[in-house]
Amino acid sequence: MLLEDKSVVVVGGSSGIGLAAAELAKAEGAAVTIASRSAERLRAAAERTGARTVVTDVTSDASVEALFKTCGRVDHVVVTAAQIRSGPIKTLSIEDAKATLESKFWGAWRVARNAEFAPGGSLTIVSGYFSIRPRPGVAIVAAANGALESLTRSLALELAPVRVNAVSPGLIDTPIRAAMPEEARRKMLEQTAAALPVRRVGQGEDIARQILAFMTIGFATGSIVYLDGGGALV
Ligand SMILES: NC(=O)c1ccc[n+]([C@@H]2O[C@H](COP(=O)([O-])OP(=O)(O)OC[C@H]3O[C@@H](n4cnc5c(N)ncnc54)[C@H](OP(=O)(O)O)[C@@H]3O)[C@@H](O)[C@H]2O)c1
Repeated sequence: MLLEDKSVVVVGGSSGIGLAAAELAKAEGAAVTIASRSAERLRAAAERTGARTVVTDVTSDASVEALFKTCGRVDHVVVTAAQIRSGPIKTLSIEDAKATLESKFWGAWRVARNAEFAPGGSLTIVSGYFSIRPRPGVAIVAAANGALESLTRSLALELAPVRVNAVSPGLIDTPIRAAMPEEARRKMLEQTAAALPVRRVGQGEDIARQILAFMTIGFATGSIVYLDGGGALV
Protein backbone atom coordinates (compact mmCIF):
# COMPACT_ATOMS: atom_id res chain seq x y z
CA MET A 1 0.00 0.00 0.00
CA LEU A 2 1.29 3.43 -0.98
CA LEU A 3 0.26 5.42 2.10
CA GLU A 4 0.91 3.02 4.95
CA ASP A 5 1.70 4.93 8.20
CA LYS A 6 0.82 8.24 6.53
CA SER A 7 -1.77 10.76 7.69
CA VAL A 8 -3.96 12.54 5.14
CA VAL A 9 -6.34 15.45 5.70
CA VAL A 10 -8.94 16.14 3.00
CA VAL A 11 -10.55 19.53 3.43
CA GLY A 12 -13.83 19.27 1.51
CA GLY A 13 -13.72 15.49 1.71
CA SER A 14 -17.38 14.78 2.46
CA SER A 15 -18.41 14.84 -1.20
CA GLY A 16 -17.31 14.48 -4.81
CA ILE A 17 -13.61 14.71 -5.63
CA GLY A 18 -12.58 15.08 -1.99
CA LEU A 19 -14.57 12.02 -0.94
CA ALA A 20 -13.00 9.99 -3.75
CA ALA A 21 -9.54 11.17 -2.63
CA ALA A 22 -10.32 10.22 0.98
CA GLU A 23 -11.53 6.77 -0.08
CA LEU A 24 -8.44 6.15 -2.20
CA ALA A 25 -6.07 7.35 0.56
CA LYS A 26 -7.84 5.06 3.03
CA ALA A 27 -7.58 2.10 0.62
CA GLU A 28 -3.83 2.83 0.34
CA GLY A 29 -3.44 2.51 4.12
CA ALA A 30 -3.51 6.16 5.30
CA ALA A 31 -5.11 7.46 8.48
CA VAL A 32 -7.59 9.92 6.94
CA THR A 33 -9.27 12.99 8.39
CA ILE A 34 -12.15 14.55 6.46
CA ALA A 35 -13.10 18.17 7.14
CA SER A 36 -16.13 20.11 5.90
CA ARG A 37 -19.09 22.10 7.22
CA SER A 38 -22.05 19.75 7.38
CA ALA A 39 -22.03 17.29 10.31
CA GLU A 40 -24.60 15.18 8.47
CA ARG A 41 -22.47 14.85 5.32
CA LEU A 42 -19.44 14.12 7.49
CA ARG A 43 -21.32 11.31 9.27
CA ALA A 44 -22.19 9.72 5.93
CA ALA A 45 -18.58 10.09 4.72
CA ALA A 46 -17.25 8.55 7.95
CA GLU A 47 -19.57 5.57 7.56
CA ARG A 48 -18.43 5.09 3.97
CA THR A 49 -14.69 5.52 4.49
CA GLY A 50 -13.95 4.91 8.17
CA ALA A 51 -12.21 8.31 8.27
CA ARG A 52 -12.09 10.61 11.27
CA THR A 53 -14.09 13.79 10.70
CA VAL A 54 -13.81 17.38 11.90
CA VAL A 55 -16.48 20.02 11.26
CA THR A 56 -14.65 22.87 9.52
CA ASP A 57 -15.58 25.96 7.52
CA VAL A 58 -12.76 27.16 5.25
CA THR A 59 -14.25 30.67 5.16
CA SER A 60 -13.35 31.05 8.86
CA ASP A 61 -9.77 31.70 10.04
CA ALA A 62 -10.55 30.27 13.49
CA SER A 63 -12.17 27.12 12.11
CA VAL A 64 -9.21 26.23 9.86
CA GLU A 65 -6.74 27.01 12.67
CA ALA A 66 -8.70 24.72 15.03
CA LEU A 67 -8.74 21.91 12.44
CA PHE A 68 -4.97 21.82 12.12
CA LYS A 69 -4.47 22.17 15.89
CA THR A 70 -6.43 18.93 16.35
CA CYS A 71 -4.49 17.23 13.53
CA GLY A 72 -0.94 18.14 14.58
CA ARG A 73 1.74 17.41 11.97
CA VAL A 74 0.36 15.56 8.98
CA ASP A 75 1.87 13.98 5.89
CA HIS A 76 -0.49 15.06 3.14
CA VAL A 77 -3.21 17.69 2.87
CA VAL A 78 -5.73 18.04 0.05
CA VAL A 79 -8.08 20.97 -0.34
CA THR A 80 -11.16 20.58 -2.51
CA ALA A 81 -13.58 22.70 -0.44
CA ALA A 82 -15.46 25.31 -2.42
CA GLN A 83 -18.91 26.71 -2.77
CA ILE A 84 -19.15 28.34 -6.17
CA ARG A 85 -21.45 31.22 -7.09
CA SER A 86 -21.01 32.19 -10.71
CA GLY A 87 -22.64 34.26 -13.43
CA PRO A 88 -21.99 37.04 -15.95
CA ILE A 89 -19.93 39.93 -14.59
CA LYS A 90 -22.77 42.40 -15.27
CA THR A 91 -25.32 40.49 -13.20
CA LEU A 92 -23.43 38.45 -10.59
CA SER A 93 -23.56 40.41 -7.35
CA ILE A 94 -20.26 41.54 -5.87
CA GLU A 95 -21.24 39.64 -2.69
CA ASP A 96 -21.59 36.38 -4.64
CA ALA A 97 -18.33 36.97 -6.51
CA LYS A 98 -16.53 37.62 -3.22
CA ALA A 99 -18.15 34.56 -1.63
CA THR A 100 -16.71 32.35 -4.39
CA LEU A 101 -13.21 33.65 -3.69
CA GLU A 102 -13.77 33.41 0.07
CA SER A 103 -14.22 29.63 -0.02
CA LYS A 104 -12.29 28.61 -3.12
CA PHE A 105 -9.23 30.88 -2.96
CA TRP A 106 -9.02 32.12 0.63
CA GLY A 107 -10.06 28.68 1.89
CA ALA A 108 -7.01 27.12 0.25
CA TRP A 109 -4.86 30.02 1.49
CA ARG A 110 -6.03 29.42 5.08
CA VAL A 111 -5.31 25.69 4.76
CA ALA A 112 -1.78 26.35 3.44
CA ARG A 113 -1.19 28.89 6.22
CA ASN A 114 -2.26 26.60 9.07
CA ALA A 115 -1.25 23.06 8.08
CA GLU A 116 1.91 21.66 9.68
CA PHE A 117 3.66 19.02 7.60
CA ALA A 118 5.85 16.07 8.51
CA PRO A 119 9.04 15.59 6.44
CA GLY A 120 8.12 14.45 2.92
CA GLY A 121 4.72 16.10 3.23
CA SER A 122 2.62 17.61 0.47
CA LEU A 123 -0.27 19.95 -0.18
CA THR A 124 -2.56 19.36 -3.15
CA ILE A 125 -4.88 22.14 -4.29
CA VAL A 126 -7.82 21.51 -6.62
CA SER A 127 -8.33 24.38 -9.07
CA GLY A 128 -10.27 23.90 -12.36
CA TYR A 129 -9.62 24.15 -16.09
CA PHE A 130 -11.64 27.37 -16.52
CA SER A 131 -8.28 28.95 -15.59
CA ILE A 132 -7.06 28.18 -19.12
CA ARG A 133 -10.33 27.39 -20.94
CA PRO A 134 -12.96 29.89 -19.75
CA ARG A 135 -16.35 30.52 -21.28
CA PRO A 136 -18.78 33.41 -20.77
CA GLY A 137 -20.41 33.52 -17.34
CA VAL A 138 -17.65 31.88 -15.30
CA ALA A 139 -15.15 34.74 -14.94
CA ILE A 140 -15.06 34.63 -11.15
CA VAL A 141 -14.46 30.86 -11.11
CA ALA A 142 -11.80 31.17 -13.81
CA ALA A 143 -10.10 33.95 -11.83
CA ALA A 144 -10.19 31.88 -8.62
CA ASN A 145 -8.69 28.89 -10.43
CA GLY A 146 -5.97 31.00 -12.05
CA ALA A 147 -5.11 32.54 -8.68
CA LEU A 148 -4.90 29.07 -7.10
CA GLU A 149 -2.56 27.86 -9.83
CA SER A 150 -0.26 30.86 -9.29
CA LEU A 151 -0.46 30.29 -5.54
CA THR A 152 0.57 26.66 -6.07
CA ARG A 153 3.77 27.66 -7.89
CA SER A 154 4.62 30.32 -5.29
CA LEU A 155 4.04 28.01 -2.33
CA ALA A 156 6.12 25.25 -3.92
CA LEU A 157 9.05 27.63 -3.37
CA GLU A 158 7.95 29.26 -0.14
CA LEU A 159 6.92 26.11 1.76
CA ALA A 160 9.73 23.88 0.39
CA PRO A 161 10.63 21.15 1.14
CA VAL A 162 6.88 20.66 1.54
CA ARG A 163 5.67 19.85 -1.96
CA VAL A 164 2.76 21.86 -3.36
CA ASN A 165 0.85 20.84 -6.50
CA ALA A 166 -2.50 21.46 -8.15
CA VAL A 167 -4.85 19.33 -10.18
CA SER A 168 -7.12 21.29 -12.48
CA PRO A 169 -10.18 19.23 -13.38
CA GLY A 170 -12.50 19.50 -16.35
CA LEU A 171 -16.12 18.52 -15.94
CA ILE A 172 -16.46 15.92 -13.19
CA ASP A 173 -19.80 14.31 -12.33
CA THR A 174 -20.13 15.11 -8.62
CA PRO A 175 -22.85 16.47 -6.29
CA ILE A 176 -21.56 20.00 -7.06
CA ARG A 177 -24.47 20.25 -9.57
CA ALA A 178 -27.09 18.79 -7.22
CA ALA A 179 -29.14 21.98 -7.39
CA MET A 180 -29.65 21.62 -11.18
CA PRO A 181 -32.90 20.00 -12.38
CA GLU A 182 -32.04 16.31 -12.96
CA GLU A 183 -33.10 16.25 -16.62
CA ALA A 184 -31.04 19.36 -17.48
CA ARG A 185 -28.06 18.00 -15.55
CA ARG A 186 -28.20 14.66 -17.37
CA LYS A 187 -28.48 16.39 -20.76
CA MET A 188 -25.56 18.70 -20.03
CA LEU A 189 -23.37 15.78 -18.93
CA GLU A 190 -24.30 13.80 -22.07
CA GLN A 191 -23.60 16.74 -24.39
CA THR A 192 -20.28 17.46 -22.71
CA ALA A 193 -19.28 13.80 -22.87
CA ALA A 194 -20.05 13.63 -26.61
CA ALA A 195 -17.90 16.71 -27.30
CA LEU A 196 -14.85 15.51 -25.35
CA PRO A 197 -12.06 13.52 -27.02
CA VAL A 198 -12.45 10.83 -24.30
CA ARG A 199 -16.26 10.68 -24.92
CA ARG A 200 -17.12 10.78 -21.24
CA VAL A 201 -17.16 13.22 -18.35
CA GLY A 202 -14.82 12.73 -15.40
CA GLN A 203 -15.47 10.83 -12.19
CA GLY A 204 -14.18 11.78 -8.75
CA GLU A 205 -11.81 8.81 -8.87
CA ASP A 206 -10.06 10.18 -11.98
CA ILE A 207 -8.96 13.22 -10.00
CA ALA A 208 -8.33 11.23 -6.81
CA ARG A 209 -5.77 9.13 -8.67
CA GLN A 210 -3.85 12.27 -9.66
CA ILE A 211 -4.02 13.50 -6.05
CA LEU A 212 -2.56 10.16 -4.91
CA ALA A 213 0.20 10.56 -7.50
CA PHE A 214 1.09 14.01 -6.10
CA MET A 215 1.22 12.57 -2.56
CA THR A 216 3.50 9.71 -3.53
CA ILE A 217 5.82 11.09 -6.25
CA GLY A 218 8.50 12.83 -4.21
CA PHE A 219 9.78 14.70 -7.30
CA ALA A 220 6.44 16.47 -7.92
CA THR A 221 6.21 20.08 -6.79
CA GLY A 222 4.90 23.23 -8.44
CA SER A 223 3.10 21.00 -10.94
CA ILE A 224 -0.29 21.88 -12.38
CA VAL A 225 -1.96 18.90 -14.03
CA TYR A 226 -4.97 19.60 -16.26
CA LEU A 227 -7.16 16.50 -16.11
CA ASP A 228 -10.07 17.34 -18.34
CA GLY A 229 -10.68 14.55 -20.85
CA GLY A 230 -9.16 16.83 -23.49
CA GLY A 231 -11.63 19.61 -22.65
CA ALA A 232 -9.04 22.36 -23.00
CA LEU A 233 -8.50 21.33 -26.64
CA VAL A 234 -12.07 21.54 -27.90
N1 LIG B 1 -17.04 18.86 -10.32
C1 LIG B 1 -16.50 19.57 -11.33
O1 LIG B 1 -16.93 19.51 -12.49
C2 LIG B 1 -15.30 20.45 -11.04
C3 LIG B 1 -14.61 20.99 -12.13
C4 LIG B 1 -13.51 21.82 -11.90
C5 LIG B 1 -13.12 22.10 -10.60
N2 LIG B 1 -13.83 21.55 -9.57
C6 LIG B 1 -13.41 21.90 -8.21
O2 LIG B 1 -13.16 20.73 -7.46
C7 LIG B 1 -13.41 20.99 -6.08
C8 LIG B 1 -14.33 19.92 -5.53
O3 LIG B 1 -15.54 19.94 -6.27
P1 LIG B 1 -16.60 18.75 -6.20
O4 LIG B 1 -17.17 18.64 -7.56
O5 LIG B 1 -16.01 17.59 -5.53
O6 LIG B 1 -17.72 19.45 -5.28
P2 LIG B 1 -18.72 18.88 -4.18
O7 LIG B 1 -19.09 17.46 -4.48
O8 LIG B 1 -19.80 19.90 -4.07
O9 LIG B 1 -17.84 18.89 -2.85
C9 LIG B 1 -17.46 20.09 -2.24
C10 LIG B 1 -16.97 19.77 -0.84
O10 LIG B 1 -16.53 20.98 -0.23
C11 LIG B 1 -17.14 21.12 1.05
N3 LIG B 1 -17.27 22.56 1.30
C12 LIG B 1 -17.96 23.50 0.59
N4 LIG B 1 -17.83 24.70 1.15
C13 LIG B 1 -17.04 24.53 2.25
C14 LIG B 1 -16.56 25.40 3.26
N5 LIG B 1 -16.86 26.70 3.26
N6 LIG B 1 -15.79 24.88 4.25
C15 LIG B 1 -15.48 23.56 4.26
N7 LIG B 1 -15.91 22.69 3.34
C16 LIG B 1 -16.68 23.17 2.34
C17 LIG B 1 -18.48 20.38 0.92
O11 LIG B 1 -18.98 19.91 2.16
P3 LIG B 1 -19.98 20.77 3.11
O12 LIG B 1 -21.11 21.19 2.25
O13 LIG B 1 -20.33 19.80 4.18
O14 LIG B 1 -19.16 21.87 3.64
C18 LIG B 1 -18.05 19.19 0.06
O15 LIG B 1 -17.47 18.19 0.87
C19 LIG B 1 -14.01 22.41 -6.02
O16 LIG B 1 -12.97 23.30 -5.70
C20 LIG B 1 -14.49 22.64 -7.43
O17 LIG B 1 -14.52 24.01 -7.78
C21 LIG B 1 -14.90 20.74 -9.75
